[in-house]
Amino acid sequence: MIYRSRSVEPLNWEIVRSITSKSEVYNEGVGLTGVLLASRTHFMQAIEGNFEDVNATFRRICRDERHTEISIVAFSIIDARLFGGWGMRGIGAFDFNQKIEKELKGKYGEEEGGIHFPLEEWQALAMINDIKMMRDLPAWKK
Ligand SMILES: Cc1cc2nc3c(=O)[nH]c(=O)nc-3n(C[C@H](O)[C@H](O)[C@H](O)COP(=O)(O)O)c2cc1C
Repeated sequence: MIYRSRSVEPLNWEIVRSITSKSEVYNEGVGLTGVLLASRTHFMQAIEGNFEDVNATFRRICRDERHTEISIVAFSIIDARLFGGWGMRGIGAFDFNQKIEKELKGKYGEEEGGIHFPLEEWQALAMINDIKMMRDLPAWKK
Protein backbone atom coordinates (compact mmCIF):
# COMPACT_ATOMS: atom_id res chain seq x y z
CA MET A 1 0.00 0.00 0.00
CA ILE A 2 0.97 3.62 -0.48
CA TYR A 3 -0.39 6.58 1.46
CA ARG A 4 0.54 10.21 1.95
CA SER A 5 0.02 12.39 4.99
CA ARG A 6 0.89 15.78 6.44
CA SER A 7 3.42 16.05 9.23
CA VAL A 8 2.36 18.09 12.26
CA GLU A 9 5.84 19.64 12.40
CA PRO A 10 8.52 20.51 9.81
CA LEU A 11 10.43 17.35 8.96
CA ASN A 12 14.14 16.73 9.35
CA TRP A 13 16.46 13.71 9.51
CA GLU A 14 16.06 13.40 13.27
CA ILE A 15 12.31 12.83 12.99
CA VAL A 16 12.62 10.55 9.96
CA ARG A 17 15.28 8.43 11.67
CA SER A 18 13.29 8.19 14.88
CA ILE A 19 10.40 6.72 12.88
CA THR A 20 12.43 4.41 10.63
CA SER A 21 14.69 3.02 13.36
CA LYS A 22 11.70 1.68 15.27
CA SER A 23 9.75 0.73 12.16
CA GLU A 24 12.66 -1.30 10.81
CA VAL A 25 12.72 -3.48 13.89
CA TYR A 26 8.98 -4.10 13.84
CA ASN A 27 8.66 -4.47 10.08
CA GLU A 28 11.56 -6.86 9.76
CA GLY A 29 10.03 -8.95 12.52
CA VAL A 30 6.83 -9.50 10.54
CA GLY A 31 8.33 -9.42 7.06
CA LEU A 32 7.10 -6.00 5.97
CA THR A 33 9.29 -3.95 3.64
CA GLY A 34 9.01 -0.47 2.24
CA VAL A 35 10.14 3.10 1.97
CA LEU A 36 9.27 6.33 3.80
CA LEU A 37 9.68 9.57 1.87
CA ALA A 38 9.64 12.86 3.73
CA SER A 39 9.45 16.38 2.34
CA ARG A 40 9.51 19.31 4.78
CA THR A 41 5.73 19.06 5.16
CA HIS A 42 4.57 15.61 4.04
CA PHE A 43 5.19 11.88 4.28
CA MET A 44 4.67 9.34 1.55
CA GLN A 45 5.09 5.72 2.55
CA ALA A 46 4.99 2.44 0.66
CA ILE A 47 4.48 -0.70 2.75
CA GLU A 48 4.44 -4.18 1.26
CA GLY A 49 3.92 -7.61 2.75
CA ASN A 50 1.25 -9.91 4.10
CA PHE A 51 -2.30 -8.44 3.80
CA GLU A 52 -3.05 -8.73 7.55
CA ASP A 53 0.28 -7.23 8.64
CA VAL A 54 -0.03 -4.31 6.22
CA ASN A 55 -3.53 -3.61 7.59
CA ALA A 56 -2.49 -3.90 11.24
CA THR A 57 0.54 -1.65 10.73
CA PHE A 58 -1.48 0.91 8.80
CA ARG A 59 -4.03 1.03 11.64
CA ARG A 60 -1.21 1.84 14.08
CA ILE A 61 0.27 4.41 11.72
CA CYS A 62 -3.15 6.11 11.38
CA ARG A 63 -3.34 6.57 15.17
CA ASP A 64 0.09 8.22 15.27
CA GLU A 65 -0.22 11.88 16.25
CA ARG A 66 2.91 12.91 14.38
CA HIS A 67 0.88 13.18 11.17
CA THR A 68 -2.59 14.03 9.90
CA GLU A 69 -4.59 14.25 6.62
CA ILE A 70 -3.75 10.63 5.75
CA SER A 71 -4.80 9.73 2.18
CA ILE A 72 -4.53 6.27 0.69
CA VAL A 73 -2.81 6.48 -2.69
CA ALA A 74 -2.80 2.75 -3.51
CA PHE A 75 -3.77 -0.58 -2.02
CA SER A 76 -3.29 -3.55 -4.29
CA ILE A 77 -2.04 -7.08 -4.64
CA ILE A 78 1.41 -7.28 -6.21
CA ASP A 79 3.37 -10.16 -7.75
CA ALA A 80 6.79 -9.16 -6.44
CA ARG A 81 8.17 -6.78 -3.83
CA LEU A 82 9.71 -3.50 -4.90
CA PHE A 83 11.60 -2.99 -1.63
CA GLY A 84 12.70 -6.47 -0.59
CA GLY A 85 15.41 -6.18 2.04
CA TRP A 86 14.38 -2.74 3.30
CA GLY A 87 12.60 -2.99 6.67
CA MET A 88 11.74 0.69 6.23
CA ARG A 89 14.16 2.93 4.33
CA GLY A 90 13.84 6.64 5.11
CA ILE A 91 14.45 9.19 2.37
CA GLY A 92 14.68 12.90 3.12
CA ALA A 93 13.30 14.60 0.02
CA PHE A 94 14.00 17.87 1.88
CA ASP A 95 17.71 17.10 1.51
CA PHE A 96 18.12 16.40 -2.22
CA ASN A 97 20.66 18.44 -4.15
CA GLN A 98 19.25 21.39 -6.12
CA LYS A 99 19.45 19.72 -9.51
CA ILE A 100 17.49 16.66 -8.38
CA GLU A 101 14.96 18.78 -6.46
CA LYS A 102 14.37 20.95 -9.53
CA GLU A 103 13.95 17.88 -11.73
CA LEU A 104 11.43 16.24 -9.37
CA LYS A 105 9.50 19.50 -8.87
CA GLY A 106 9.32 19.90 -12.65
CA LYS A 107 7.96 16.38 -13.05
CA TYR A 108 5.64 16.06 -10.03
CA GLY A 109 4.91 19.64 -9.07
CA GLU A 110 5.61 21.78 -6.05
CA GLU A 111 3.86 21.89 -2.70
CA GLU A 112 4.57 24.40 0.05
CA GLY A 113 8.05 24.99 -1.34
CA GLY A 114 8.95 21.29 -1.54
CA ILE A 115 8.42 18.40 -3.95
CA HIS A 116 4.74 17.49 -4.32
CA PHE A 117 3.98 13.90 -3.30
CA PRO A 118 1.45 12.53 -5.83
CA LEU A 119 -2.06 11.38 -5.00
CA GLU A 120 -2.27 9.11 -8.04
CA GLU A 121 -0.83 5.59 -7.83
CA TRP A 122 1.02 5.64 -11.17
CA GLN A 123 2.64 8.98 -10.36
CA ALA A 124 3.61 7.86 -6.86
CA LEU A 125 5.20 4.69 -8.26
CA ALA A 126 7.01 6.70 -10.93
CA MET A 127 8.38 9.09 -8.31
CA ILE A 128 9.51 6.28 -6.01
CA ASN A 129 11.19 4.62 -8.98
CA ASP A 130 12.94 7.86 -9.99
CA ILE A 131 14.22 8.25 -6.43
CA LYS A 132 15.33 4.61 -6.29
CA MET A 133 17.47 5.26 -9.38
CA MET A 134 19.22 8.07 -7.50
CA ARG A 135 20.33 5.85 -4.64
CA ASP A 136 23.97 6.81 -4.94
CA LEU A 137 23.13 10.41 -4.00
CA PRO A 138 24.32 11.74 -0.64
CA ALA A 139 20.68 12.42 0.21
CA TRP A 140 19.99 8.71 0.09
CA LYS A 141 20.47 8.01 3.78
CA LYS A 142 18.94 5.76 6.34
C1 LIG B 1 4.88 8.52 8.88
C2 LIG B 1 4.97 7.36 9.81
C3 LIG B 1 5.31 6.10 9.32
C4 LIG B 1 5.41 5.00 10.19
N1 LIG B 1 5.73 3.77 9.68
C5 LIG B 1 5.77 2.70 10.50
C6 LIG B 1 6.06 1.39 10.01
O1 LIG B 1 6.30 1.19 8.82
N2 LIG B 1 6.08 0.37 10.89
C7 LIG B 1 5.84 0.55 12.23
O2 LIG B 1 5.86 -0.43 12.97
N3 LIG B 1 5.57 1.76 12.72
C8 LIG B 1 5.53 2.84 11.90
N4 LIG B 1 5.26 4.08 12.42
C9 LIG B 1 5.12 4.20 13.88
C10 LIG B 1 3.74 3.83 14.34
O3 LIG B 1 2.84 4.86 14.01
C11 LIG B 1 3.73 3.62 15.87
O4 LIG B 1 4.19 4.75 16.52
C12 LIG B 1 4.60 2.47 16.29
O5 LIG B 1 4.34 1.35 15.49
C13 LIG B 1 4.37 2.10 17.76
O6 LIG B 1 3.03 1.83 17.95
P1 LIG B 1 2.40 1.61 19.40
O7 LIG B 1 2.83 2.81 20.20
O8 LIG B 1 0.91 1.55 19.17
O9 LIG B 1 3.00 0.35 19.87
C14 LIG B 1 5.17 5.19 11.57
C15 LIG B 1 4.83 6.46 12.05
C16 LIG B 1 4.74 7.54 11.19
C17 LIG B 1 4.38 8.89 11.72
